[in-house]
Amino acid sequence: MNAAPFSIEVHKLEKRFGNFRAVKAIDLVVRRGEIFGFIGANGAGKTTTIKMLCGLLPPDGGKANVAGIDVAADPEGVKRRIGYMCQKFALYGDLTAAENIDFFGGIYGLPTDRLEKRRTEIFDLLELSAHADRFAADLPRGYQQRLALACAVVHEPAVIFLDEPTAGVDPIQRRAFWDLIYSFSAAGTTVFVTTHFLDEAEYCHRVAFIADGELAAEDTPAGLKGLLADWTIYELRAADPAGLLPAVRALPDIRSAALFGETLHVTAGAAADPKTVFGGLAGLAGYTPIPPTLEDVFLHITGKKS
Ligand SMILES: Nc1ncnc2c1ncn2[C@@H]1O[C@H](COP(=O)(O)OP(=O)(O)OP(=O)(O)O)[C@@H](O)[C@H]1O
Ligand SMILES: [Mg+2]
Repeated sequence: MNAAPFSIEVHKLEKRFGNFRAVKAIDLVVRRGEIFGFIGANGAGKTTTIKMLCGLLPPDGGKANVAGIDVAADPEGVKRRIGYMCQKFALYGDLTAAENIDFFGGIYGLPTDRLEKRRTEIFDLLELSAHADRFAADLPRGYQQRLALACAVVHEPAVIFLDEPTAGVDPIQRRAFWDLIYSFSAAGTTVFVTTHFLDEAEYCHRVAFIADGELAAEDTPAGLKGLLADWTIYELRAADPAGLLPAVRALPDIRSAALFGETLHVTAGAAADPKTVFGGLAGLAGYTPIPPTLEDVFLHITGKKS
C-alpha cells in the first residue's frame, strides 16, 4: 500500500511540442483525499499536464509520481490506479448506461460479481439507477456527465482526474456534480480537476493557477485571496460600465479592471484614497470596496491593465 501523504508529486515536469514549451517545469503536490483545482485559460497547459499525470503522454523533463508510481517508468501501472474523465469524454451512445459501465469494468478486468455490486453502488451514488437501461446518447447532458464519471471510477481508483467535467452543464447540474466530487473526496479519493469556472475553484481544497504553461500561484482559496492583502477591490457602478472601462484602465493607480455583469471590478492599492483614484472619472455613479473573489485574484495574477 502507498502510505505516502501525497497522491500526486510533480517536480519540474515539462512538455514540449517541437520548440513550444506547453508545460514549463511545474512543481506541485496533492494530498490524499484532496480536491485540487487546476485553473487556467484556453491553451494554458491543463490537459497536457493531466495527460502526463495519467501516463498518456511522456514528459520531456522532470518527474511525476501518481498513486505511488513514477508515470514515466510505469505508465500502464498509473493507468490501472487512476480514473480519467477526459475533456471531450466519449460514451458509447448506442450502449445503455449499464452497458457502458460494464464495458469500462471489463477493460479494468473486474470480475462479474464485483462489477455488478459496483454498478449498483455507483448508480445509487450518482443517482443513475433510473436511467440504467437508457442509451447513453439519449441521456440529458448532465446525466451523460455523471455516467462518464461513473465509468472513470468503476474500478475504485485512488486518484481521479477530471478535465473540465462541468463544461456545457447548467448551474444546478454543476452544483450537483460538485456534491459528487465531495463525496469521493470524503471517501479518501484524490481529485485533480480542471475548470474554467472560477466559482468552482472556490469549492476546491487547494487551487493552482496555470498561465502559459507556468504555475502562477498555488494555495487554498483563502490563501490565494490573501495575495490581495495589499490591494482593495472596488465595485464600480455606471450607466455604461463597458464604455467606462477604457478610462478606468488608463488610471495610473489601478492594477486591473474587468467587467462583472453590470459593474466593474477594479483593483487599487489598499493605501490609495479611492476619492483620488476614481475622482476624475466622468460617468461613474459610485464605488464600493468588496471582498475579493478568486476571479479577482486570477485577474490580478495573470491579467494586465489593458
Ligand atoms: N499534440 C500537440 N501538438 C502541438 N501542440 C499541442 C499539442 N497538444 C497541445 N498543444 C498546445 O499546447 C498548449 C496547451 O494545450 P492544452 O490542451 O494543454 O491546454 P488547456 O489548458 O487544456 O486548454 P483548454 O482550456 O482549451 O482545454 C496549447 O497551445 C496547445 O495548442
Ligand atoms: Mg484542456
